[in-house]
Amino acid sequence: CGIVGYVGSQSALDVVLAGLKRLEYRGYDSAGVAVLADGGLATAKKAGKLANLEKALVEEVLPVGATGIGHTRWATHGGPTDANAHPHLDNAGRVAVVHNGIIENFAALRDELAERGHRLSSETDTETVAHLLAESFSACGDLTEAMRLVCLRLKGAFTLVAVHADRPDVVVGARRNSPLVVGVGEGESFLASDVAAFIDHTRTAIELGQDQVVELSGGGVRVIGFDGRPAEVRTYHVDWDASAAEKGGYDYFMLKEIAEQPKAVADTLLGRIDGQGNLSLDEIRIPTHVLRETDKVVVVACGTAFHAGMIAKYAIEHWTRIPCEVELASEFRYRDPILDQRTLVIAISQSGETMDTLMALRHAREQGAKVLAVCNTNGSTIPRESDAVLYTHAGPEVAVASTKAFLTQLVACYLVALYLGQTRGTKYGDEITDVVAELSGIAGEVDRVLETMEPVRELARSLAHKNTVLFLGRHVGYPVALEGALKLKELAYMHAEGFAAGELKHGPIALIEQDLPVVVVVPSPRGRSLLHDKIVSNIQEIRARGARTIVIAEEGDESVAPYADHLIRIPRTPTLLQPLVATVPLQVFACELATARGNEVDQPRNLAKSVTVE
Ligand code: G6P
Repeated sequence: CGIVGYVGSQSALDVVLAGLKRLEYRGYDSAGVAVLADGGLATAKKAGKLANLEKALVEEVLPVGATGIGHTRWATHGGPTDANAHPHLDNAGRVAVVHNGIIENFAALRDELAERGHRLSSETDTETVAHLLAESFSACGDLTEAMRLVCLRLKGAFTLVAVHADRPDVVVGARRNSPLVVGVGEGESFLASDVAAFIDHTRTAIELGQDQVVELSGGGVRVIGFDGRPAEVRTYHVDWDASAAEKGGYDYFMLKEIAEQPKAVADTLLGRIDGQGNLSLDEIRIPTHVLRETDKVVVVACGTAFHAGMIAKYAIEHWTRIPCEVELASEFRYRDPILDQRTLVIAISQSGETMDTLMALRHAREQGAKVLAVCNTNGSTIPRESDAVLYTHAGPEVAVASTKAFLTQLVACYLVALYLGQTRGTKYGDEITDVVAELSGIAGEVDRVLETMEPVRELARSLAHKNTVLFLGRHVGYPVALEGALKLKELAYMHAEGFAAGELKHGPIALIEQDLPVVVVVPSPRGRSLLHDKIVSNIQEIRARGARTIVIAEEGDESVAPYADHLIRIPRTPTLLQPLVATVPLQVFACELATARGNEVDQPRNLAKSVTVE
């Protein structure tokens, strides 16, 4: 969910709505605002996108006030209805609360409130907080203290922002696990889940720590811990450009982000390979002796980042000879994984806020493992809680379906693998030098792929009426197939599945029927020719059963041509780097197919870009 709070002299409603617009990627199934004005509290909330709320506000105008809060929701407790949208109020309608996260003990709290005569009107866990806060404020008369006392009673992960009509120039916030950032302006202050919400107003920010309560008022910003002690506050400067988060002439953020991939990849590499072709990754502040003693690498991530992790495994094991496991972050800590001081855990996350990944890394650190974050968002929670971080520098990614973040995660993982190999000195020294040289030119190759995408778009449009598309790959082409299928699920809402091509014959081949589109990612015939020959056989097996084959193969590979109903060419790359060029056509394919089906590309149904609940 996305949260905004404002205290100052501008119209709070305008500031909050503009901020919510920037945070809509965090959830968009309902939205709401509350403004303090004329001694009271005025709220409006609507199911659906922010635009619905904006429309409602034209018909039902709120009084103008300079203190307000807002929320854009990704539903957890209770469906996406008007009633369940935030803010939630107490019975007197004097307190309004917005919330991101899950309050695990809300059922007990709700029963307790009901016993004391409170009437709760929604199915959400958030409403209990509004009631508790109203009670607590009546008892102590201090909104910040009241918020602190309420937080002590809550279990789970939460970010809360609240206002009280009796304190018309105060907004209070609280943070446990889910992100909350303060923006400090001249005579005005902001609270938001992400700096994007207030970057048009100020670039001075304060990152709230775990278990802290913040008070914004005419007097400025005050932060205390849940223990009641004043907290040390550190401001920082936000250096990214607001225009980077705008569409820049493209119809969708996703199209812009696909097009930005060559630059994003180049930015990830920038300054990390020196003139002699050596990797300089001193920013990974894990002592060399620790990296030398590492005897196991475990990658944890979710969604697209997990696919990057699967590819990282091939690279890490090949170049470093250290065993590497990859695991879905949401599964990791629940199976009691074997970790110790010699384990290096790599947590991959675009947002740096994904709760599943955060919990996995906390578990790993508790067991003594070192954690390296591969992340795109500066100062977010995952890098802050890790031992070291390698930023991907892809710039802000707004479209929910990840594209440029994925490619840069791959580059960052290759760098880590090569760096580990370089530090430990493996027998692949020469290969490492060659690959580093290839990486330097890879942005240009991604650019070349982008220039040849028109036939892919045409093909996508011609398949818009299909129900199912399958994706096959072997070796690093297998995670690419999974990623191609995920993109299509997310964007086109189609049945799309990725398989290891060799596994097809053990079951999934039963799905093949006449004219079923099957995308096959073919590895280079050079180097691993055995692998290449096997997949050529797999293509023949499915074609013999009626599949319509869409083959992604490297330039000059003529052996696949007779079996390809559609042939998509990608540049020659070393086998392990192929995902950087092979994924791009699949992104374009999914985006175009979704557009042809009339779907919303940037904000697919049911999804959110940053999922801050477990
Ligand atoms: C969400 C998004 C996915 C993303 C995943 C991991 O589910 O919808 O696109 O891959 O989270 O996000 P992260 O920010 O941790 O990379």
